[in-house]
Amino acid sequence: MDYVRLDGDALTLVFTCATGGAADLLYIGARLPEGEDLVALATAAARGRHESQPDQPPRPGLLPERKAGWSGAPAFRLVDLDNPLAGEVPTDFRVHQWDVSERELWIDWQDERLGIAVNLWWRIRSGDVVSVTCDAVNVGENSFRLVDQPALVLPIPHRFSGMTTFSGRWAGEMRKTQRAIAPDGYAAATGTGKPGFGGGNWLVLDDPTSGEVLGAHLAWSGDYSTRIECDMQGQGDGRAVLQMALGGGAAGIRLNSGTDLDVAEAVFALAPDRTALAQSLHAYLRAEVLPDRPTWSPRKVHLNSWEALGFNLSEEGLIALAEDAASLGIERFVLDDGWFGGRRNDQTSLGDWHVSLDVFPNGLAPLIARVHALGMDFGLWVEPEMVSPDSGLYRANPDWCLHQEGRDRPTMRGQLALDMGRSEVCDYLFERLDALLSDHPIAYLKWDHNRDLFPSLPRQTEGFYALVDRLRAAHPHIEIESCSSGGGRIDFGVLSRVHRVWPSDNNDAIERLRIIRAWSQFLPLEVLGSHVGPSPNPITGRRVAMDFRAKVALFGHMGVEADPALMNEQERATLAAHIALYKHWRGVLHSGAFYRLDQPDPGIFAQLVTDGAKALALVAQTTFSATFDAAPIRLAGLDADAFYRVTLPEPWPGKARHYLANPESWRSGITLSGGAMMHHGIALPLTHPETAWLIALERLPQ
Ligand code: GLA
Repeated sequence: MDYVRLDGDALTLVFTCATGGAADLLYIGARLPEGEDLVALATAAARGRHESQPDQPPRPGLLPERKAGWSGAPAFRLVDLDNPLAGEVPTDFRVHQWDVSERELWIDWQDERLGIAVNLWWRIRSGDVVSVTCDAVNVGENSFRLVDQPALVLPIPHRFSGMTTFSGRWAGEMRKTQRAIAPDGYAAATGTGKPGFGGGNWLVLDDPTSGEVLGAHLAWSGDYSTRIECDMQGQGDGRAVLQMALGGGAAGIRLNSGTDLDVAEAVFALAPDRTALAQSLHAYLRAEVLPDRPTWSPRKVHLNSWEALGFNLSEEGLIALAEDAASLGIERFVLDDGWFGGRRNDQTSLGDWHVSLDVFPNGLAPLIARVHALGMDFGLWVEPEMVSPDSGLYRANPDWCLHQEGRDRPTMRGQLALDMGRSEVCDYLFERLDALLSDHPIAYLKWDHNRDLFPSLPRQTEGFYALVDRLRAAHPHIEIESCSSGGGRIDFGVLSRVHRVWPSDNNDAIERLRIIRAWSQFLPLEVLGSHVGPSPNPITGRRVAMDFRAKVALFGHMGVEADPALMNEQERATLAAHIALYKHWRGVLHSGAFYRLDQPDPGIFAQLVTDGAKALALVAQTTFSATFDAAPIRLAGLDADAFYRVTLPEPWPGKARHYLANPESWRSGITLSGGAMMHHGIALPLTHPETAWLIALERLPQ
């Protein structure tokens, strides 16, 4: 038995590896001192055998199998395609060789009888995020079908007894559920070809005694299968194992003789609390996932035409909207749905990616020229992976969509999905998108995906990834947003290819606070599109004051998705002031460390971002408070011994401003220590719903 130790900045992983046998995770937690005796660590972790176990107590380890009595699911569930009726094939994977280099462990397992080799890599990356990747090579004679394709097997330390998972629906993404891991464990899977509105392949394990958390995620934009099996019924040892896998769906995943699988990846991070977990994942995403993140220019303020004009498009109307947008300080004008083919409503023309001459008799050129003359750049909405039955593309190629021969072709939002496993489909889409980007100076694509994938077919996600990669290679300066009716396809797989995501179609600022709080647990603000919508909100019907809408939108990649012509003078002035504030603060908001500020009042959402020298906090009350005087807002992430100049940036919220004590001091600024603000806090009027304050800090030289 060998012991392998990997150290991150604040993390240690210790593994046991037995050549010819198994591999397991012995320790995962805060960094251990140099010189820790790993044999003693194993001695301290060992368990004596109890009555109801096999004579050799089974350990699922890093590659669970059934061979020795483990009652949970094996990582590799294989069906021999020459003998499919025999059911799943028993496996006997043994560690063949392993290697360790700085921050990385590689293990090669083999089942010699089946002729399958499995490669597993555990790597400690930026932010101490652990990336686990897995592939399999079939060097044997037989071909197999995998039920799911494993990415991560994580033996869960006993201290994590609770978990938080996320589910959601259209316009209501990322609702969290908290539950105990024992006795039933957890199982969740999608079958609609994408992660879905729960971004469901995120989960957080909780240690309720210390507050420590472990956040895990499958970096994949297709179906997933996540399960935690907890042995409380059989041998009763309480051992729990998390498995994250690419979902194989009804067809499973083929592992033909002489082939290998694409590598599947999952990530996880361990942190003392939820803020530290967010920071760790943000650091990893910024350093290693987002495409060319260090070269990004400041995130431009968008105006998106969707909630301003819908399908009511004309060159004249769009130019008027662009002029209005520019007068507010907008920097990018995004033309949403409705610009192509016969697309005058959502039941037609997907696939016909030609500029509609009905809407734009002179093409897009005059609009783009005006947008540029106004000092903005231009973005365009597309939904490449889809086709409307009522379209030239469908009429010419009725077999290009996902379908089963001779069966109905049920639509969703009036549309079908293209088969991205067919090269002629991807070539057509590339040709159209490439032509659009070559013929027009387009800086940004909003890449939408508004339908579940059924009947499901393999290789949809690979086809999508390959198309985006090909387009980005041909047009390296294009920025892309991933949208899927809002947040239906948000994960680290897509985020390695795009520059931002659309977290929700729901722009209602009160809903957005909850949604952004959930996404920001995993994603930094610069990738989270955040728009000021109309009032009343078209989805919730709620009327929300501009001051509140604008302050909430500022904490993300800010934009406007409303028609300024329908705003009164005061609303326009308030919006313009917040756009200016966003421009002033985006450098901090989009590179700094994110802090969740927990409040005793459940109606208050508070967060802060700091780059060390400056900090900006948002504090927002969503309900009518039980008390007049909310508990002072305690900040975080400051140097306790440093002094800061503190202001409350204006404009101030309409009603609450009358309850603010010492307004002149807040306007000109007061000096407080980091310690005073972190331990005691700042008293703010937060009684009324839709009250939001910004708190600005500037560290003073010592
Ligand atoms: C989806 C998107 C919206 C908008 C519409 C256009 O619903 O999520 O933001 O682009 O499509 O049809």
